[in-house]
Amino acid sequence: MQREALDLLNCPSCQGPLRIHEIVEEERSTGNFVEGQLECITCAKRYPVLRSVPRFVPAENYASSFGFQWQRFDRIQIDKVMGNNFSRDRFVAGTQWPARLEGERILEAGSGAGRFTQLALETGAVVYSFDLSEAVEANYRNHGSEANLHLFQASIYEIPLRRESFDKVFCFGVLQHCPDVKRAFMGLVPYLRPGGEIVVDVYQMHTGIPPLKYWARPFVSRLKTETLCKMLSWTIPPAFELKKALHRVPRIGPALGKLIPIGPISHAPRLNYTDDELKQVKILSALDMLSPKYDQPQRIEAVRQWFEEAGLVEIQIWLGYNGVNARGRRPA
Ligand SMILES: C[S@@+](CC[C@H](N)C(=O)[O-])C[C@H]1O[C@@H](n2cnc3c(N)ncnc32)[C@H](O)[C@@H]1O
Ligand SMILES: [Zn+2]
Repeated sequence: MQREALDLLNCPSCQGPLRIHEIVEEERSTGNFVEGQLECITCAKRYPVLRSVPRFVPAENYASSFGFQWQRFDRIQIDKVMGNNFSRDRFVAGTQWPARLEGERILEAGSGAGRFTQLALETGAVVYSFDLSEAVEANYRNHGSEANLHLFQASIYEIPLRRESFDKVFCFGVLQHCPDVKRAFMGLVPYLRPGGEIVVDVYQMHTGIPPLKYWARPFVSRLKTETLCKMLSWTIPPAFELKKALHRVPRIGPALGKLIPIGPISHAPRLNYTDDELKQVKILSALDMLSPKYDQPQRIEAVRQWFEEAGLVEIQIWLGYNGVNARGRRPA
């Protein structure tokens, strides 16, 4: 943790400013804070700093499945590691931000392993990023050495930051996994400075027959995430090979292959995934579909209403990579 983070970090309980209460370990070369405690100047509540990340929530919480998921699959969706644009395409389409944002401050809510953190950092902006789960460990491994990043473990419902401090706020792939989706969105808006811009995406609620995952979730929800991950790791690679073999069978092969519900066996060639990497992506996607405690898709009209109720202007709503995309601006 860099000490400058204290300029914006606040007590999530009373919004009071924080100070360093105790330093157990700091980095020799940078003076960054590795382990110790922060204290609220107003209400005296204390918050630990562990492994260089300030923690404002208990380690175990409803998002623990994501903590496991992103620590296990910490690199497979990070563009700079995989040498592709898998996450960039969604970031660019979702934010529509200019490539350079030096001098601006961005807030990212629900970072996971940090695939979008990387892209926000590449703009040259200062990035504050948090996640409720221990996914912050994975993000710290991926981006902890970036001077422009301030990472912390916190909840969207109690963001430990000074309000009206951010030029841009983004939240991708998170809202549907919160117990109260609208409240989670509304919780982000106060952190925009006047004139600042918020962009989010959220799963779209479909009418008609629910997708397969919603049928499977009641059966698998009682499993530990680790157990479910093992089951998927045993079954998906052979299913992938079978589907691939079926595709070589003339005429009926591809139709039979469609009965194996693991998505396509080839990815866009420009993503350069090997078969082994593609199998990992599929295990991750299945885990992401089946293990979260909450999965609450939203209607497009509901998202528009939240934006209007929040007093945002220049609202745009469209269907994109992950369902409903939306953007809006706080009046200047
Ligand atoms: C599907 S993952 C998406 C992660 C990342 N944005 C991405 O797209 O790769 C959803 C993330 O939301 C986080 N999350 C869920 N509820 C949250 C909350 N109340 N506050 C902050 N993060 C939360 C989870 O821990 C998880 O890492
Ligand atoms: Zn306080």
